Amino acid sequence: MRPSIVQRYTPYALAALRIVTAYLFIQHGTAKLFGFPHQAMFDGLELFSLIGLAGVLEVVGGLLLGAGLYTRPTAFVLSGMMAVAYFMAHASQGNVMAPMLNGGELAALYSFIFLLFAATGPGALSLDARNGGRSSSGVRGGLFEGDDMNRFRIAVIVGSLRKDSVNRRLGSALAKVAPPDFSFQPVRIDDLPLYNQDDDARPAEAVSRLKGQIGAARGLLFITPEYNRSIPGVLKNAIDHASRPYGQSAWAGKPAGVLGVSIGAIGTAVAQQHLRAILAYLDVPTLGQPEVFLQLTDELFDATGNIGPASRAFLQSWMDRYADWVRAHAAPALSVGFDDDAVDLQVVHQLAQQEHRGREPRVAG
Ligand SMILES: Cc1cc2nc3c(=O)[nH]c(=O)nc-3n(C[C@H](O)[C@H](O)[C@H](O)COP(=O)(O)O)c2cc1C
Repeated sequence: MRPSIVQRYTPYALAALRIVTAYLFIQHGTAKLFGFPHQAMFDGLELFSLIGLAGVLEVVGGLLLGAGLYTRPTAFVLSGMMAVAYFMAHASQGNVMAPMLNGGELAALYSFIFLLFAATGPGALSLDARNGGRSSSGVRGGLFEGDDMNRFRIAVIVGSLRKDSVNRRLGSALAKVAPPDFSFQPVRIDDLPLYNQDDDARPAEAVSRLKGQIGAARGLLFITPEYNRSIPGVLKNAIDHASRPYGQSAWAGKPAGVLGVSIGAIGTAVAQQHLRAILAYLDVPTLGQPEVFLQLTDELFDATGNIGPASRAFLQSWMDRYADWVRAHAAPALSVGFDDDAVDLQVVHQLAQQEHRGREPRVAG
């Protein structure tokens, strides 16, 4: 299901609350430790005292919380600290259930805000999120952590090894119109040996890397030219490698999208049909519509390598449908890292166009 606008921006609202709370909280610490902002009651405060310790926790905890680093344990400790502060400094004066009367309203509020972050994790814009979406407790998948940039890591498999491949350029341009919780990792296939079943028991390093990358991805994006009315051999070679040994295919269940650019007017339509047949056998749920058949023309990309005006709306709608498809079908990723130094997806250039649902594909001339 596609998240609503509210769902999409909730992690950012949470981030705003976290950062503002941290900013306000740190000032209590700096007032105690450094006299800034100045409060006369903290003049001459000893560092090695209960209040001094509170000041240290406020500064250090506030900085960690603001940066979203070790968010959950930090928030848990701070929540406990503010609960202790409430009961020691405020409730002890009476009116335990009426903080308005004992001056403990702020302590109670801080305690529950921190408790919230201990439960939800940092939301967006946090160092924890950059750390692979892994929560500070080491457990993946906090309530909102999944909305970070790495939530849907997509393995991009380009069927051309050509340095200036237009298909690779299309991958770069598409990545720019993807939702913020999607990231795209090019998968290197140019150093794979030719598939040989004899090697199944002892796969080459490049093969293990390929399988690791596919295993770690939440979805797949195939962008391929058409070679002699089918898919290029290098792509089939990569698909075969990651499908073996029998029963240990890395592809199964990964939601996929298929696109392609070629100079022919049917824009990789035949290659895509062949690819779809292979993916169906490999149990890869592949987005059916809209189909994207792009013929190389001067209009597909603008001067900066973004999708040109003529195709922008269509490819944006394709990306939206693809993102929905991945969200609906994505399985959990394996804990295998991506090689970020893999093929570099570059942009620039001018290309071609599309076809889609309800419209007849352009016929080859
Ligand atoms: C061996 C070979 C076979 C090709 N066969 C086709 C074809 O069947 N249909 C087609 O539209 N283009 C075909 N082309 C042209 C490609 O569409 C064109 O080279 C395209 O730019 C390749 O994509 P790339 O820029 O991503 O490498 C073929 C090119 C080569 C090298």
